[in-house]
Amino acid sequence: MNRKRFVAGNWKMNTSMNEGFQLLKDIMDRVSESDLETCDVSIFAPFTHLKVFQNTLNGSLMQLGAQNCHHEEAGAYTGEISADMLASVPVAQVLVGHSERRQYFGETNELLAKKVDQVLKHGMQAVYCYGETLDQREDESYIEVVTNQISTGLFHLSAEEIVKVTLAYEPVWAIGTGKTASAGQAQEIHAHTRSILREKYGEEISAQLRILYGGSVKPSNALELFSMPDIDGGLIGGAALNAQSFEAIIKA
Ligand code: 13P
Repeated sequence: MNRKRFVAGNWKMNTSMNEGFQLLKDIMDRVSESDLETCDVSIFAPFTHLKVFQNTLNGSLMQLGAQNCHHEEAGAYTGEISADMLASVPVAQVLVGHSERRQYFGETNELLAKKVDQVLKHGMQAVYCYGETLDQREDESYIEVVTNQISTGLFHLSAEEIVKVTLAYEPVWAIGTGKTASAGQAQEIHAHTRSILREKYGEEISAQLRILYGGSVKPSNALELFSMPDIDGGLIGGAALNAQSFEAIIKA
């Protein structure tokens, strides 16, 4: 099965409007149409930037994503952004379940299942993040933890729905720490992920789903990680804030 590569930049809470616009232009200048034919590229920008970015990207193959959405349709949730609003920008994808949302905003697998439903209901794709903490890796419960994150967050979806989801394994201990999971450590979880997807949805669908790796991906380690059989690309934090390193990761 030939899965198209996918590299996504998660800008998190970084860049003013002007800085973000300049960074987007720099990335657009560096990433060629031929890069985009072999690799999907998406920018997960802050909410405030989305409309301007959508206008700027118009006609480009590069895609736009949001970093979060609320789990309810609409209503009295001051300060929140709904999936319906994001679809009206429009954005193509929404990140769901980033570990920083789980850790700092108390998002549970059950809540994330509702967010995934909202994203799909409004015609966008979800990028569902999961991954264990350092404690969970050290006490060897990590396989159980990631299995539970995936099954509770996603396994209520039908076969037609799950194909609109990309998975992103991001071990918490590797995010922003400079400590990358080794290619072998990442491949172990990616292969496990694909095997539980196979059990649930069958061979054809599991072979088609893309599983990204995230956590201190840099130009120097991207090629080794992306060479693993079940790693289909990356979700990039820090290195996505520099057009040159983001380009180098896309080229890997
Ligand atoms: P870093 O690449 O900065 O480790 O961040 C990874 C991440 O959280 C992407 O969503």
